[in-house]
Amino acid sequence: MERTFVMIKPDAVQRGLIGEIIHRFERRGLKIVAMKFMHVSEELAAKHYAAHKEKPFYRDLIDYITSGPVVAMVLEGTGAIATARTTMGATNPAQAAPGTIRADFSLEIGRNIVHGSDGEESAAAEIGLWFGDDIPGWERNTD
Ligand code: CMP
Repeated sequence: MERTFVMIKPDAVQRGLIGEIIHRFERRGLKIVAMKFMHVSEELAAKHYAAHKEKPFYRDLIDYITSGPVVAMVLEGTGAIATARTTMGATNPAQAAPGTIRADFSLEIGRNIVHGSDGEESAAAEIGLWFGDDIPGWERNTD
């Protein structure tokens, strides 16, 4: 079963949208297999957004993502990577289709309220970076 990494960004947390956003992924059929509420360190932010290091908006991106707590999660399901992305909508909320998370709750590309892995490689890398081996299974605890 495919897995993807999704992060609810600081402004969405501050606006009280955690439940609404999680609801939409769950309603779609994606299962949460790991989740944590956390502050993002400068170091983690730099690793997560390393691909954007040379972009003009890089500094703003790091400042934004470290500005308050986020919710990081791993979602699982058939075609989870693409399914999460279509549920979120286009990276630029101004171009996202109505009914998607980004279109319904945001307007600025730099404040697009949610992040999702963009492919198999980034999903594996991001899940490893944010959770390592710390993903519980569904097995019943027999202790
Ligand atoms: P995200 O999916 O978290 O991945 C990289 C982020 O960079 C992206 O969402 C946007 O929030 C941000 N981003 C991409 N392009 C721009 C831009 N032109 N200006 C500001 N932020 C951007």
